[in-house]
Amino acid sequence: MNEAVRVYAPATVANLGPGFDILGMAVTEPGDIVTASFADQPGTFITRITGDGGRLPLDATLNTAGVAANHVRRQLAPHLGINLEIDKGLPLASGLGSSAASAVAAATAVNLLLGAPLTPMELLPATLEAEAAVSGRHADNVAPALLGGIVLVTGATASNLHPIPVGPNIASLNITLITPNVAVPTAEARSVLPHLVPFPTVVHQIKAVGQLVHALHSDDIDLFTSAMMQDAIVELARKHLIPHFEAARDAALGMGGLAAVISGAGPTLCVLTRSHAAANHIGETLCNAYAAQSINAVFRVVNISQQGAAQLP
Ligand code: HSE
Repeated sequence: MNEAVRVYAPATVANLGPGFDILGMAVTEPGDIVTASFADQPGTFITRITGDGGRLPLDATLNTAGVAANHVRRQLAPHLGINLEIDKGLPLASGLGSSAASAVAAATAVNLLLGAPLTPMELLPATLEAEAAVSGRHADNVAPALLGGIVLVTGATASNLHPIPVGPNIASLNITLITPNVAVPTAEARSVLPHLVPFPTVVHQIKAVGQLVHALHSDDIDLFTSAMMQDAIVELARKHLIPHFEAARDAALGMGGLAAVISGAGPTLCVLTRSHAAANHIGETLCNAYAAQSINAVFRVVNISQQGAAQLP
């Protein structure tokens, strides 16, 4: 048996505009690393966390990595003990699937430590339990963090995960992730969503999701990016949580952005471009604009990651 297993899990962009809670995409960076090893006593223990500024709980029942790891441990080897070390590469509460990345890395690491009896898809219930514990029950971050690429999620078990092929056109897109330094906890961003939506708006949203999934299957960049821009429900309800959202989105679209949407629950803005130079220019310009408003912001230019959680040497 392994003595320790290190696993990297990627950041993810959930929703992709209209696909609230059902569509998510893994990106090449950043990511979280979780190391699992055997403990002397039964249970799941978090022994160290780095990169979180001291903000995450060491109590495994309150930490997304701990909850996911404990689920897998209980399922596979309830008599054993597991220690976890968490290296956060993702900013917290930024809309990049931070809680999902830790949960997926932890569940994958424990599964590998115990001989990998479960497939990545079979780790969905453990990672979903972790998301539910900290930020709300949604699988559109954990699914692509487990599997890579773009995943359609229609339920809570492995058979409801539908990886969507990412063709060469869509794969060539540059993704600028602009993250202003404003925490938007997912639970809060979910609390502002409407309970009722007018029927014509529902029809519009269904059309947009259909177009988006079809665009992916036909590898059509124009159809894909126009579908991403058609969310008529969630962005409207959340945009006030993100400073200067509309100005940032419109500026990005004016600089070569094909689509500019809230990443997950925000505040990260996700902009797609054909050109790498435009992707960098958008990131630099928006970060400077935020700085002029006394808001720190960082940007990353990334791509879709075809790979989900993976063991590190
Ligand atoms: N679908 C979730 C939401 C993703 O938008 O609340 C959170 O990252």
